[in-house]
Amino acid sequence: MVCLGNICRSPLAEGIMREKLTSFGSSVNIDSAGTGGWHAGEAPDRRSIAIAARYHIDISSQRARKLQKADLDKFDIIFAMDTNNHKDILAMADENQQEKVHLFLEFAGMGKQDVPDPWYGDMTDFESVYHLLDKAGDKVALRLEALLLKKS
Ligand code: 4NP
Repeated sequence: MVCLGNICRSPLAEGIMREKLTSFGSSVNIDSAGTGGWHAGEAPDRRSIAIAARYHIDISSQRARKLQKADLDKFDIIFAMDTNNHKDILAMADENQQEKVHLFLEFAGMGKQDVPDPWYGDMTDFESVYHLLDKAGDKVALRLEALLLKKS
């Protein structure tokens, strides 16, 4: 799960998807990172922590980090929160890694849409980002489950 700062959207996406994929236990490794490293080492934004907590998801122990080229090898699927992140990740990726990189909402069948950046917004924006990720996350989980079943 990749956004710009790894403190607002992708930590929420990480927490939500971990919750949705619990039935796969440790067979799925979910992580998040930012294309930018300005907030590396920081906890998620307090507004992301608060909105997740409202829905009983604890993301407070996550720490921001910058996406590394090695991540593109390590992970089977990379989800970008918006089209800028998508473009930046593709620019880092080798030819054979390009097909691993997806726009999260597009993979969910919701069209070529961005998860809007709530950084300059208020709690209402964080609330709508949460619901967007939650709704898309259900569809992404179904697709991932189908892919995992095919692999096993
Ligand atoms: P995120 O939000 O990409 O969802 O984590 C942002 C966090 C910080 C900044 C921008 C977006 N920033 O400019 O510091």
